[in-house]
Amino acid sequence: MYNNITILNENGICTITINREAKLNALNIETLQEIKAAVTAANSDTQVGGIIITGAGPKAFAAGADISEFAGFNVKQGTKMSADGHEVMNTIERSAKPVVAAVNGFALGGGCELAMACHLRIASENAKFGQPEVNLGVPPGYGGTQRLIQLIGKSRGLELLLTGDAIGANVALEYGLVNEVVPLEDLLPRCAELLNKLASKSPSALTKVIKCVNDYYQDGLDGMKTEIEEFGHAFGTKDFKEGTSAFLNKRKAAFER
Ligand code: COA
Repeated sequence: MYNNITILNENGICTITINREAKLNALNIETLQEIKAAVTAANSDTQVGGIIITGAGPKAFAAGADISEFAGFNVKQGTKMSADGHEVMNTIERSAKPVVAAVNGFALGGGCELAMACHLRIASENAKFGQPEVNLGVPPGYGGTQRLIQLIGKSRGLELLLTGDAIGANVALEYGLVNEVVPLEDLLPRCAELLNKLASKSPSALTKVIKCVNDYYQDGLDGMKTEIEEFGHAFGTKDFKEGTSAFLNKRKAAFER
């Protein structure tokens, strides 16, 4: 069904693996569209509680947009490439189900942007993050100038964006770019463990948290107002009835997807 990614649906987790190892999982346009389609499909699959995005092999998560593909683009094609890429990243960021990036190596350019669009990031010890686009004559085009400063602040963000330098996993952890660093062999199990934990929570509450947090960064939207609305809506859900009655009856809540 897909040419550039593989999908594994197991125990309520959909793992999307970018499968272009020989090209360090560089994100050509078709790959990005497949990731978008796979995230959308996972969102409408009631068997799926959470999503992992990772790269094939031990070397790269994704070494950026595919330079060989866009090198010949003109202004119109470059603009479309960026607009379409933004839509892909927004689809991930707005996923109603939590998305974890399992960063298994280079996450450069579009690879770093893909990781940043995910809700959480766990990196292997060999991971490297950077936005080297200035070496190619372009700024980042898939949301990197915005999400990097949101995640690590303007000072460090501008430093990475302007120098194009890459940082290792432990510096990324110190900067708050990743949530955790683990040995490569533990990466996917740790991501699954984290998503299993989230699977025990109210799915509708998780979706509401994601929406409220996203609205903080959305021009023209007021995240505080969204929070009031989403909190209110929650009182009409079966998750609310289940969560509160479980607490009052001193039992563990059993939420349904
Ligand atoms: N686009 C297209 N192809 C890419 C790529 C990218 N972003 N990143 C790596 N590749 C390809 C290489 O061209 C090479 O293909 P080939 O074997 O057909 O020549 C293959 O992947 C392996 O990469 P290579 O450069 O030989 O590996 P390396 O270990 O020497 O270096 C990197 C690894 C990540 C430092 C280097 O590949 C690199 O700088 N990539 C580009 C990073 C970048 O600028 N990303 C932002 C793009 S907007």
